[in-house]
Amino acid sequence: MHMRYVALMIGGVLAASGQSVPNAAQTILETNCATCHGTAQMSGLDLRQRESILKGGKRGPAIVPGKPDDSLLYKAVLRQGDLQMPPGKKALAPEEIASLKSWIAAGAPWQNTKVSTESSWWAFKPISKPAPPAVINTSWARDPIDRFILSKLESKNLHPVPAADKRTLIRRAYFDLHGLPPSPEDVDQFVNDPTPDAYEKLIDRLLASPRYGERWGRHWLDVARFGEDNNTSEATNPPYAYAWRYRDWVIEAVNQDMPYDRFVKLQLAADLMPGSSRQDLRALGYLGTALVYHKEPRLSQEVLYTFATDDWDERVDAVSRGAFSTLLSPLARINSVSRFWRASRRSSRDWSSTSVGGGGRGESRVLT
Ligand code: HEC
Repeated sequence: MHMRYVALMIGGVLAASGQSVPNAAQTILETNCATCHGTAQMSGLDLRQRESILKGGKRGPAIVPGKPDDSLLYKAVLRQGDLQMPPGKKALAPEEIASLKSWIAAGAPWQNTKVSTESSWWAFKPISKPAPPAVINTSWARDPIDRFILSKLESKNLHPVPAADKRTLIRRAYFDLHGLPPSPEDVDQFVNDPTPDAYEKLIDRLLASPRYGERWGRHWLDVARFGEDNNTSEATNPPYAYAWRYRDWVIEAVNQDMPYDRFVKLQLAADLMPGSSRQDLRALGYLGTALVYHKEPRLSQEVLYTFATDDWDERVDAVSRGAFSTLLSPLARINSVSRFWRASRRSSRDWSSTSVGGGGRGESRVLT
């Protein structure tokens, strides 16, 4: 996998989360309701825009601006009547409910933000090949991308900084590609290499080193919320003894320049893909090292149900929002719910080992 792709996928995740600054109520609705009242429009209600909230769903307007107590949405989150939102056991936190109340009382102001499903969203635009802009300083740009940068600089009357000397350059290359400084010997060798392709050779060497995958695989592991511990912090849930196998797989994938589509598919379905090897199964650690709550068999069925739902919720979140795409959320959620129902037909004791990839945790299961 080229560094460029890694940077792109991380960039995509960051861009998707940092697209706008909605107000608190919008964030609460987006986080807790949009999976069902977004594209899915359950009960005809879309909570992603002010107009559609005012229009409401099957029962009519979801809010009456200025009047929280007359607003269906507020009554639903208070959970005092028949309509209880979000569905399930978990109500919104009291401060979230209070925040929605004061938002409605204030007339439900709305910060216009870009919704990721809009066709103007960058990911939906067809790929085009724009012509590099004209520049005044024609000798500075070494490739067409430089011309885009330079034209912006020139439009603001700025000049590029002078080229870095070799000592600076090798440090930058090491930090970028390995995350570590070069040794004094590395620096000497590069500085004293008079050949015109000294820099290319340096970059090739850095890309070929296993340190490269360690440095760039780390970014993916962050997005994949990787940890060797089980973050429920329950004494009954010790750290994942074999989590490192997934970590190593990610590092190897980057070092082997694995195509991105295969990289994604293996993490979701290595066990189902024809021709995948035993080594490939390590990729399932993406799902398998998920947070899992302890299911104490003495607890009531209802409590265990909530725990199992929470386990799934985390996986759905990691797949649909964490690494891959916010747009998958409603679908993924519905899928996971139906899987959950299938799982729930088994005994509650089996729940802890349920996962898409069969890489569920439990003392006897290891990720190999
Ligand atoms: C898991 C899916 C799901 C989530 C999450 C969810 N809802 Fe709902 N919502 C529904 C369904 C299904 C209905 C229809 C229920 C019915 O008709 O009995 C509904 C109905 C509603 C209605 C009534 C719409 C109408 O006119 O019929 C309101 C208002 C509402 N939800 C608000 C919310 C709010 C606010 C949140 C977040 C705090 C939320 N919902 C989260 C599934 C969901």
